[in-house]
Amino acid sequence: MSEPRVLIVFFSRTGTTRMLATTLARALSADVEEICDFSERRGALGYLRCVVDSWRKRPADIVPARLDPSRYDLVLVGTPVWAGAVSAPVRAYLLQNRAKFRHVGFFCTLGGLGAQAAFDEMRALAGKAPVAQCKVRAAEVQRGVATASLELFVGGLERHLAHYKALEWAC
Ligand SMILES: Cc1cc2nc3c(=O)[nH]c(=O)nc-3n(C[C@H](O)[C@H](O)[C@H](O)COP(=O)(O)O)c2cc1C
Repeated sequence: MSEPRVLIVFFSRTGTTRMLATTLARALSADVEEICDFSERRGALGYLRCVVDSWRKRPADIVPARLDPSRYDLVLVGTPVWAGAVSAPVRAYLLQNRAKFRHVGFFCTLGGLGAQAAFDEMRALAGKAPVAQCKVRAAEVQRGVATASLELFVGGLERHLAHYKALEWAC
C-alpha cells in the first residue's frame, strides 16, 4: 500500500509564502511546485500591478506547471494575500487545474487582513472545499514563530491523509 501523495503549490513575490511552503513540505514529505508568472512584480510599479490584478480579479499569465496535480491525493495551494484577495498567479493556477484536484488545502501569508476573502475565492476557483486552511502573518513566518497554527494545520492534514490511506486499504 503506497503513502498518500501530497503536492504543495505556491506563489511568492518576496519569499514569505515560499518559507512557509518549505516548512510545510518538510513536515508532510511533499513535492513542491513554485508558480512563476511572466509579469514584472518588483518595485512600486510591480506592486501596483498586483493591486490592479486583484481588484480586477485578473488571472496572471503563468509558466505551465511542471507537476501534474491529478497524480496527488492532496494538493496544498499557498498564496500571499493581495488587496484582500488571492494573488493573480495562484488565481491562474487554480483556474487552469480545477478539474485535476482530488482534495485541496489552502494556506496564505498576509500582513493582517483579508485571509477569509482570499480563501473564499480560492474555494470558488478550485471548485472544491478545502480539507483545511491556514493563515499566517508575514511577521510570524519571518520570525519563525508560527508554530502553533502550523501544528494545528499539519495535524488536521495528517488525519485526512490517514483517512485516505484507510480508504485505499479498504478498496
Ligand atoms: C500588492 C500587495 C497587496 C497586499 N495586500 C494585503 C492585504 O490586503 N492584506 C494583508 O494583510 N496583507 C497584504 N499584503 C501583504 C502580503 O500579503 C504579505 O506581505 C505576504 O506575506 C507576502 O508574501 P510573499 O513574500 O510570499 O510575496 C499585500 C502585499 C502586496 C504586495
